[in-house]
Amino acid sequence: MTDPILQLRGLEKSFGDMQVFKNVDLDVAPGDRIAILGASGSGKSTLLRCINVLETPDAGDIRVGGKPVGAVGSNGRVRYSERELCALRQRVGMVFQQFNLFPHMTVKQNVTEGLRTVKGIASAKADERALKELSRVGLADKAETYPSRLSGGQKQRVAIARALAMDPEILLFDEPTSALDPALVGEVLSVIEQLANEGRTMLLVTHEIGFAYHMATKIVFLAEGGIYEMGTPDAVLKNPQKPLTQAFLAEHQRFHF
Ligand SMILES: Nc1ncnc2c1ncn2[C@@H]1O[C@H](COP(=O)(O)OP(=O)(O)OP(=O)(O)O)[C@@H](O)[C@H]1O
Ligand SMILES: [Mg+2]
Repeated sequence: MTDPILQLRGLEKSFGDMQVFKNVDLDVAPGDRIAILGASGSGKSTLLRCINVLETPDAGDIRVGGKPVGAVGSNGRVRYSERELCALRQRVGMVFQQFNLFPHMTVKQNVTEGLRTVKGIASAKADERALKELSRVGLADKAETYPSRLSGGQKQRVAIARALAMDPEILLFDEPTSALDPALVGEVLSVIEQLANEGRTMLLVTHEIGFAYHMATKIVFLAEGGIYEMGTPDAVLKNPQKPLTQAFLAEHQRFHF
């Protein structure tokens, strides 16, 4: 068996008195595609945000490539240096529901920004790389356009190109299609499917259950402050064993035809 590229052990996160999750253990092997499902508020975004430390976990270990992220400080809590976080976020790329593009930069500048400022790649090389990634998502012709001139689907594909340009080992997608007009969902899912077919490692929060069934190697269902049910798409989505998973899926299938 290959070593996990990402390991979570005993991960915990609360906001004030509200515990979002505790004791989250998860192993992600290279090439795994993990779909994270769960009701609104179950902690899906928080889990992804903890993995690249956009939220600081309260307790637990995160290991990327076998190495722990952060070091235990004198107060017993894990501390993260800026340098380490910067390195982590290059290895673990994130794509957000609301795209998070810089409105004052062209599409190409959005993609080259991290290459130049974080990776220190010279402009000409960064431009070349940006065009390569924009071609991959079918948007090379929009390189000089500003995000405000793009459709939601195009914006999300730029955000994916921007993440890919950093050569991440793991991609995190937080509901990448849920801010989109239904007609634009397909173009973004196609790009993600293409990345899946390339064998990329990814964690995807989605409400597109059909897509999760077809592309994921593993389904994680969050409820009751942790991983409530986990298994293959066939096991969890076709034959869920636990009541909250069953209820969630029944609700999703209510208007199925
Ligand atoms: N920065 C924050 N401060 C306080 N509470 C927060 C914060 N972020 C999330 N929460 C709370 O933590 C819980 C989990 O939120 P999270 O956004 O992870 O849920 P989610 O599963 O992604 O939901 P959705 O499907 O609606 O996106 C929610 O109750 C939310 O209100
Ligand atoms: Mg969310």
